[in-house]
Amino acid sequence: MPTARNADARRIRRAASAKGRTARVKRGRRSPLATVALLAIGLMFTGGAYALFSASPSDNGAVAASQENVERGQKLFAANCATCHGLALEGTEAGPTLLGVGAASVDFQVGTGRMPLMNQSPQAPVKPVQFTEEDTQALADYVASLAPGPAIPSAEYLQADGDATHGAELFRINCAMCHNVAGAGGALTEGKYAPELHEVTPQHIYEAMLTGPQNMPVFNDANITPEDKRDIITSLVYMRENPSPGGFELGSLGPVAEGLFAWVFGIGALVALAVWLTARSN
Ligand code: HEC
Ligand code: HEC
Repeated sequence: MPTARNADARRIRRAASAKGRTARVKRGRRSPLATVALLAIGLMFTGGAYALFSASPSDNGAVAASQENVERGQKLFAANCATCHGLALEGTEAGPTLLGVGAASVDFQVGTGRMPLMNQSPQAPVKPVQFTEEDTQALADYVASLAPGPAIPSAEYLQADGDATHGAELFRINCAMCHNVAGAGGALTEGKYAPELHEVTPQHIYEAMLTGPQNMPVFNDANITPEDKRDIITSLVYMRENPSPGGFELGSLGPVAEGLFAWVFGIGALVALAVWLTARSN
């Protein structure tokens, strides 16, 4: 039976070479270079996967919320928000209903630290943010799952690559009476105020326009189109990246502050000079 013996020999050879291969592989794994390479590949893979997952929700506000996220949001909401807003978002004496406010409003309120509200004041202040981005997204998904409302804006309008001149004009017409032409903020009645806009992110600027927090009016898409909103964001980002070209800004508070400065220091200096001159002539 020569063929059978040949087959046996082949099998033995194959087994031997396979053993040789595993031995080589084992030796290779132990080499420090291989460890480094493996680590690098692992890091690259995790990094890539992280970028993929963390970018996807904000790429498009309309991404369907996963059931898992909605359930997580529900738990977070029951623990942190329901005392004021009600377990079914119906509202209580301590807080308004959130039915129909949309994911954009939740992302704005929680993402700027305004919510959860800590104590009663004329206006919910910006505070250190209490929730991670994922938790904020889960809360937003949960609120949006119960009633439709404005979604978190898609990234294409948040790049600050629009027409800054057009945006500045829109800002002067629609926003400057409360926020000041340079976005330095201003006081309103009853202890309320329009905050300064130098730090707030493009996403929160867009959401503020879309949802009109507290005393701010809503600028819906019929009123100011998404392209116009992008231009306004562009002009605000331009302003903060290009401070005024000369002189003291005096807080960019406008002619009153500048006039006061001129009166107090300019005329004050002249008076002091006059007093000094008359004192010398005596
Ligand atoms: C101590 C009470 C309190 C708690 C806790 C609280 N809120 Fe509020 N919330 C309010 C009040 C009062 C307002 C309305 C006045 C304001 O906007 O400052 C409000 C407004 C809001 C709005 C804006 C509604 C609109 O009309 O656009 C959202 C969204 C919101 N809250 C979400 C949350 C979420 C999410 C949490 C939990 C993480 C939370 N709140 C916790 C009291 C509370
Ligand atoms: C009637 C006055 C008024 C007008 C007009 C107005 N806002 Fe506001 N804005 C407010 C008030 C009041 C708040 C603070 C709301 C709060 O704290 O909940 C605010 C908040 C904001 C915020 C959030 C700032 C932060 O620190 O989180 C942004 C961004 C913003 N406004 C942008 C705009 C833009 C852009 C326009 C014009 C398209 C505009 N506002 C027009 C009164 C106004």
